[in-house]
Parts: sequence; structure tokens; C-alpha cells
Amino acid sequence: MRKLSTERMRVAALDLKRQIKPIRRQIDAAIKKAVDNTSFILGAGVSEFERNVKEYSGARYAVGVSNGTDAISLALLALGIKHGDEVVCPAFTYFATAGAVAAVGATPVFADIDKDTYNISLQSLKDILSRRKNIKAVIPVHLYGQCADMGQVLSLARKYGIKVIEDAAQAFGAEYMGRKAGTIGDCGAVSFYPGKNIGAFGDAGMVLTNNKAVAERLFILRNQGNKDKYYHSLLGRNNRLDAIQAVVLDVKLKYLDDWNKGRGEVACYYDRYFSSCAVQIPFRAAYSTHIYHQYTLRGKGSGRKIVERLHERGIDARVFYPVPLHLQECFKCLGYKAGDFPEAEAAARHVFSIPVFPELKRDEREYVASQVKDVLES
Ligand SMILES: Cc1ncc(COP(=O)(O)O)c(C=O)c1O
Repeated sequence: MRKLSTERMRVAALDLKRQIKPIRRQIDAAIKKAVDNTSFILGAGVSEFERNVKEYSGARYAVGVSNGTDAISLALLALGIKHGDEVVCPAFTYFATAGAVAAVGATPVFADIDKDTYNISLQSLKDILSRRKNIKAVIPVHLYGQCADMGQVLSLARKYGIKVIEDAAQAFGAEYMGRKAGTIGDCGAVSFYPGKNIGAFGDAGMVLTNNKAVAERLFILRNQGNKDKYYHSLLGRNNRLDAIQAVVLDVKLKYLDDWNKGRGEVACYYDRYFSSCAVQIPFRAAYSTHIYHQYTLRGKGSGRKIVERLHERGIDARVFYPVPLHLQECFKCLGYKAGDFPEAEAAARHVFSIPVFPELKRDEREYVASQVKDVLES
């Protein structure tokens, strides 16, 4: 048994310098090439990355876009969701899932979550679909890097004739029964925000779909509704992917599976370490792999207080997310109140996430685990 360091360390939530250092030359060369050919918006760099994402994910079509939020909005528009339609989202997710719905003039309708996986509760979804007649789509979120129960979501969606948009922002590379996250519903939205498991050097995103007609609309919608230049067949938006982001991401794509594996190894270490602690470790659903965008624990007390104490010990722990969406000020107009979604509210109170990136050093993860245990037990 190695001796644990008792000295106070600093452990970042994510250290991108460590990720970039070994691939820096490749990235610099890719950026240089993009600058040399001055094709900065769409163009060859973006098409090449879209081709490689299709190959990696198995999606028939991949459409590079400006960010993950726009990826969701564009998917909604391409699937015909419009002003006044209702779209179900889990109440416990990042704001953008529901923000993207509101951005196209549709109304988010919140569902509770499953207490183990933190993904959408099938019972809650079923209740909503049987009560409300104006629901046109559902957005299951693959929170923290593990897929929602897509088979069940799809069968409910088929029964009620609604569209399914996967929010795969946190789960690019995870698999639901052997199929990549984002390729299972009508569309999948991916975020390449810098802190994601594969991140750009700025904002970037992708929409995946297997439907040719939907893909054709997406290509038009992301580019001002241009079918041919200056001929606007749809009311589109400026949601294009920058070529420089695409070439950076194309270099990184080759390493994604290794990085996700590295996250899994850190997670396994934590699982073993916390097996004897009074804390709920991440649940592994039999139907999905987990790529640990976050390693999220749940204790009995306040997640925020635990995070404060870990900060005092130099560990950049976080709470994703402290306020469920139905209680956010911006969604007050929807008329929800505390108590509407007990599982989402409980998760927001109790969860906390600890550093899990693949380059985390052995002494760092040992320090994080020992400090978490100490905080939980003191
Ligand atoms: C669950 C979820 N949905 C959507 C988004 C939005 O992605 P982006 O930040 O690229 O717009 C994010 C990213 O933060 C996310 O975590």
C-alpha cells in the first residue's frame, strides 16, 4: 500500500494544459493549415470533421454547428417544432436543454428524474404524455456521461407520436446498447464546449441524425436558411461551425476513446475507495456505458457544503446543478413550484462532483478520495 500524502494539494476540476501538451504539435499544424487556406467558416476542415464524426459515431449525417445549445435548437427546428409547441425536458440538467427549447418559441415542460441515474424519469414522462396533448418532442439528457433509457423513451415517443432529440452534450462517445449516444433518437445534439470530454478551443457543436430530409434541413438552417447562396428557402440562423474549431476537434477525436477510458479508470478507483463510505457512487445502468463527464457523488447532507469544505482543502469540486430548472427565475412564468419534482430537487440538494479527468495523477486522485472520505465522516 502506497503511503498517502498528508500535505495539502491543489487539484483542478479539469486541467486542459495536460491534455493539450502531448498533441500540441498536431494541433498547431492543423490550425496553421486552416489559416494558410483561409477557409474559416465551414469549408474543407468542417466537412472532414463531419465525415470523421459520422465514421466514429455511426450516424448517417453529422452537421457541424456553433455550439451544443444551437445544436438542440436546430434539431427542434429541423423536426418541425415551432412556436406554441411543448417539449418535455428533465428538470435536472444544464439550463441549455430547456433554453434551446424556449429559443425556438416552444415551451419547456419539465419532467422529474430517476433517482439513481439522474436521467429523465420514465414514469414522469408517461404521466405528462398521457395528460398533455400539445407535446411535440422530448429531450432525454445523457447526464454526466451516461445514456438515458433510450429504448423506453423511444417506445413512449412512438406511442404518442412525438420526436426525440437526445441531449448528448455530456456523453459523446458513450454507448446505449452498442449504439453511440446521439445516434438513437430523431436527432442528437453534441457540445464541444472546451470542458467537455472532447472540447474545442471555443464554442462548437454537432447535430447527428439518420434521416436524410432532416439532415438537409439542418445544413440549410445552420447557414442562414441558404439553399443556394442568397436564396433562402427556410428561416435559418447563423449557427455555422468555425473551421479552426473543426480542425482542432478532428485532431482530438482520435484520442477521445482513450480519454474516456482514462476517466473510467479514475472512476473505478473512486468506486472502490468509496464502497465503504456513506455516499452514493454513480449508478451504472446495464443498458449504457458511462464516460464520466462528471463523477458525481450523493451524500445525505448538502452537496454545496461538502464542496465548500473540499475547496478549503484545495480540491475544485462542483455542484452540477444547484437549482433545478423548474425553480429557475427565468422559468417562473411556467408556473412551477417547489415540491413539483422531488427527485430533481433532492439531487440538486445533495449531489457533488469531484475531479475525474484522464490526466489526473495517482497522488491527486488518492488525495481527492481521502479528503472526500474525511469530509463525509467528520
Ligand atoms: C446537458 C447540456 N446540454 C446542453 C449544453 C449546451 O452546450 P454548449 O455549451 O456547447 O452550448 C451543455 C453544455 O454545457 C450541457 O451540459
